[in-house]
Amino acid sequence: MRKKMVAGNWKMNKNLHESILLADDIRQAVETLSADRLPAVVLAPAFPFLYPVSQTLRANSQLAVAAQYCHAARSGAFTGEVSVEMIRSTGARYVIIGHSERRMLFGEKEEEINKKIKMVLEAGLHPVLCVGEKLEERKENRHFDAVAHQLNSALENCSPADLQHLIVAYEPVWAIGTGLTASAAQAQEMHVFIRQTIKQKTDDAFANQLMVLYGGSCNPSNAAELFACPDVDGGLIGGASLNAADFVSIIKAAMK
Ligand code: PGA
Repeated sequence: MRKKMVAGNWKMNKNLHESILLADDIRQAVETLSADRLPAVVLAPAFPFLYPVSQTLRANSQLAVAAQYCHAARSGAFTGEVSVEMIRSTGARYVIIGHSERRMLFGEKEEEINKKIKMVLEAGLHPVLCVGEKLEERKENRHFDAVAHQLNSALENCSPADLQHLIVAYEPVWAIGTGLTASAAQAQEMHVFIRQTIKQKTDDAFANQLMVLYGGSCNPSNAAELFACPDVDGGLIGGASLNAADFVSIIKAAMK
């Protein structure tokens, strides 16, 4: 059976004290849940708090930390930037790549996303590659083309062996932070499409075990329905991950 994951993207929220408290509340609640059905639980705090949150979680394979972003170069004169190696040294195991906010607000280009994916894979970390169409692309029925284009450019020249640690998150841009959610049927058909697209680059066995997460206004009231779709392997949660009770209830929805 495919593994599941529930990841919380805290974005630019929570100071040090609040980050540690939230991580601790989540760790304590997760420790009371039955281990056999527990999804991987991943928290993505802001950069300065990766290490303290990782320590608070007593991070392990089931409860781990992600960075929200990284720079494409290994090191150098890039004031203000953070490399994959720096992220790795904090104990983080995942890096979110190509989030739509990075693409839209910070002009992150596909070529950079491709470099970052390679850098993260080379470091032995897991990239969580975000893809998803904009509202006008959905309205014009171009959503599959848009997502295929994002996947193909992000994964260009990656060998099947390179891709072993990849995770994909389908995040329709029109659903992020808007309260609008893709219907279970819309999510399921796009997740199948993503799996098929990855299959063409790898093989059946890899595509079948690839985790494809859903993100975009996922919350305690809609998580169970979304996660019940056979190809939805959990979620990348923004707003609802900032509250321990809501986030834990989403984790529980992934255990059904
Ligand atoms: P949201 O954000 O759950 O607040 O819509 C999801 C995301 O941006 O990853």
